[in-house]
Amino acid sequence: MTLIASAADTAYACMRPLVHAAEGEAAHNLTLSALQPLPRARRALTSPSLATELAGIAFPNPIGLAPGFDKDARVAHAMPHFGFGFVEVGTLTPVPQEGNPRPRLFRLVEDKAIVNRMGFNNGGQAAAAERIRCLRRYGLPVPLGINIGANKDSADRIADYAKGAGAMAPLADYLTVNISSPNTPGLRALQDKGALEALLDGVAAAQGDGAKPVFLKVAPDLESADIDDIVGVALEKGLAALIVSNTTIERPPLASRHAGEAGGLSGAPLANLALQRLKDFRAASGGTLPLVGVGGIATPEQAWERIRAGASLIQIYSAMVFEGPGLAARLARAVERLAARDGFAKVADAVGTSA
Ligand SMILES: Cc1cc2nc3c(=O)[nH]c(=O)nc-3n(C[C@H](O)[C@H](O)[C@H](O)COP(=O)(O)O)c2cc1C
Repeated sequence: MTLIASAADTAYACMRPLVHAAEGEAAHNLTLSALQPLPRARRALTSPSLATELAGIAFPNPIGLAPGFDKDARVAHAMPHFGFGFVEVGTLTPVPQEGNPRPRLFRLVEDKAIVNRMGFNNGGQAAAAERIRCLRRYGLPVPLGINIGANKDSADRIADYAKGAGAMAPLADYLTVNISSPNTPGLRALQDKGALEALLDGVAAAQGDGAKPVFLKVAPDLESADIDDIVGVALEKGLAALIVSNTTIERPPLASRHAGEAGGLSGAPLANLALQRLKDFRAASGGTLPLVGVGGIATPEQAWERIRAGASLIQIYSAMVFEGPGLAARLARAVERLAARDGFAKVADAVGTSA
């Protein structure tokens, strides 16, 4: 595993000029094509300090791959090679869809940021389910989350989430309900109390017996009244965790020529906002609701700060584009060291200790 991770870093250093010269989405597709032929990972990066549990699921380490990188579950089998302790695929919609016209993915190199308005481009749940069934047959050494969404032209978006839950839950370790993409017009309105209750009832009903834990992924662009409402519904409906957060529609000052592109902003400029929202959700729930921290995490200190602020798990995406795929292993090893430095026997013991 370490061998492949360090070989990957070396290979990535050689490939970086090529990948970075390519247009954003072409570079992404190039990366997926390089990862797809890798052999299936058989072991995960773990240690007694890194191993953790959430919603009854055992995670070998708390650093995960955020959704959007592997929307169609093409490379999940390879990601544990790079140190990821869990992988979330998707967002997957019931019916395949093209997404928005290209270009729709922009690297803001000067800002270590990405703007995307992909619009849930994906091959649909049935095709991904076929791939995941195959993955399950051979085994994956880390938990797999499946992130579900609604089709843009759906007549009943709430029903789309129920369909997704019915189709994908049997294949998932956990299910993520994504109502926070800024790139499907009106989707974020599903974060409103009434709509959210109906949606989560639909998801629960569709799962029936043997239901999988449901995580809810929220936007960072929320007022405190929204946060209180979401926490109330999450507790009432027995959600397993909140994922904080998706990309932002805010635009802090940025240097790149792509700064004005429409879409969701991720990476370095999102870090403070996502950290603040994590703290807000922690405060609003009084620490009763497990949280997953995501948004702009690039360094060990940032990962550690997110854990201390209440994140049981971490996810990364944008920083990996700039730092290479070995970032997950580096972060995992680093938080293990930081836990020892600060006197925690296990990384999980530090969750929420600065809140
Ligand atoms: C190109 C791109 C596509 C994304 N697609 C999805 C998606 O389909 N579903 C989702 O829940 N989040 C998606 N995200 C959001 C990420 O999962 C993550 O929440 C966000 O990028 C913040 O983390 P980061 O700063 O580490 O990238 C996407 C992000 C990027 C950059």
